[in-house]
Amino acid sequence: MGYDLNMKVWRGDESGGDLADYVVPVEEGEVVLDALHRLQATQAGDLAVRWNCKAGKCGSCSAEINGKPRLTCMTRLSLFEPDETITVTPLRTFPVVRDLVTDVSYNYEKAKKVPALSPEPRQPDGTYRMQQEDVERGQEFRKCIECFLCQSVCHVIRDHEDNKEAFSGPRLFLRYAELEMHPLETGDHREAAKAEAGVGLCNITKCCTEVCPESIKITDNAIIPVKERVVDRSYDPLVWLGSKIFRR
Ligand code: FES
Repeated sequence: MGYDLNMKVWRGDESGGDLADYVVPVEEGEVVLDALHRLQATQAGDLAVRWNCKAGKCGSCSAEINGKPRLTCMTRLSLFEPDETITVTPLRTFPVVRDLVTDVSYNYEKAKKVPALSPEPRQPDGTYRMQQEDVERGQEFRKCIECFLCQSVCHVIRDHEDNKEAFSGPRLFLRYAELEMHPLETGDHREAAKAEAGVGLCNITKCCTEVCPESIKITDNAIIPVKERVVDRSYDPLVWLGSKIFRR
């Protein structure tokens, strides 16, 4: 059965903005993106909303619903009471372009700094060989749809713009984890994960894991293993002993 949904939607651009009130007729089974599209079609033709697949796979429709980063195409209206007001705002961690659209280029700039895979040479028969178990470990990380909800919720940069220079964020830690665990990788990226990506600034509050629409265990399966490897390298007793001996 349909009903009138009370919405507050942030309208504005980089110079500022405010929440605007709307009442939007919605139908049973719809998602927040349906309500935004109807709002755009009937009352606010200039509302800027980014979306593409409407199937939770392109990562375009990210916004904050009642303060929580979510995919608007995968957030059912039935999650809320019919008389509840839903507030939709742009991702807080990135600069606003207009209305619900943000400039997420920070993520792409950080991605450019992740080292490329340097695989060992092919076998004499021209193939690569990997254990299925090793392939599956990295498979989880490749489910990422780059919606950047994890980046937006991460308090290291959400509340501290000045940390962006030194910190790449959970999405990029998946990339470092994939490199570190890749069975053919020959490089050692632990120093880059520490110095370039700033993995040490993460204090594993698991906020990123909670918002991931692909249910990737970002903290447990990527960030913690990368942190452990970085610590192993930094505090390896042999490395420590060697530094003492050769410094004499
Ligand atoms: Fe593609 Fe929502 S529109 S993930």
